[in-house]
Amino acid sequence: MTAADANAPVGVFDSGVGGLTVVREIMKLLPDEPIIYFGDTARVPYGNKSQETIIRYSRQITNFLLEQHVKAIVVACNTASAYALEEIRDSVPVDMIGVVKPGAYAACQATRNGRVGLIGTEGTIQSHIYSKMIREAYPDYHIYAQACPLFVSLVEEYMLDDEVTRIMAGRYLKNIKQAGVDTLILGCTHYPLLSPLLQEVMGGDVTLVNPAYETAKGLRKLLDKKGLRFHGESTGEKYRLFVSDTPKQFRKFADYILPCTIGEATQVMIEAY
Ligand code: DGL
Repeated sequence: MTAADANAPVGVFDSGVGGLTVVREIMKLLPDEPIIYFGDTARVPYGNKSQETIIRYSRQITNFLLEQHVKAIVVACNTASAYALEEIRDSVPVDMIGVVKPGAYAACQATRNGRVGLIGTEGTIQSHIYSKMIREAYPDYHIYAQACPLFVSLVEEYMLDDEVTRIMAGRYLKNIKQAGVDTLILGCTHYPLLSPLLQEVMGGDVTLVNPAYETAKGLRKLLDKKGLRFHGESTGEKYRLFVSDTPKQFRKFADYILPCTIGEATQVMIEAY
């Protein structure tokens, strides 16, 4: 691994807009850090794609981010973290972190009864990666997992506090609730935006774990450990956004969830990487 430049940006990528929930947490926790975000809006969703395809897409995006001289890469997408991170990180010359490990770790810290719920895309649930990580550390813990594919569309339709979303949440979470979990991992980029509604459905005693927030904490720890915290003069645009489809829809979502206004996103022909 070559020495990275502390004043270089952090690269963050996701299958689309959802990874902005991770960017949002990084902006809050590490307000000085410049960020380059890539959202693969032309090829979203990843949640129902094969591992082979997700690895190929993730490699292309990683190559693009490396060309931008990022100092570290955050895989904001749960599905890409589940399927591609371990496969590609050894061939990448900067540190790469995903959202699964920080989320799994936080759930282990949060649970008191060892019964943990997990919701995510079909791909993330099928990978069993959260369960493997948790049970490696705590073999006695029970994980109750449920794919909630419709949540992504409901969030992208801005139906965060909507009767239809509430009905779907009731159905998706029924078994997890009945299992008596005291902790629920929001294992998909979009789900933290549903936190108030999910808390209402699960009840106030259940701790919701937001891997986006946990990952921002993990990034801070990594940058501190490696002496890679930004310490320069801010020049140019601090936050740069790239997408693989036209930027229009992306911009609307970014304005909706980010704590500050950011410049236009730029379209990249990601297949070329
Ligand atoms: N970003 C994806 C994830 O966190 C959700 C959207 C998709 O299926 O691509 O798993």
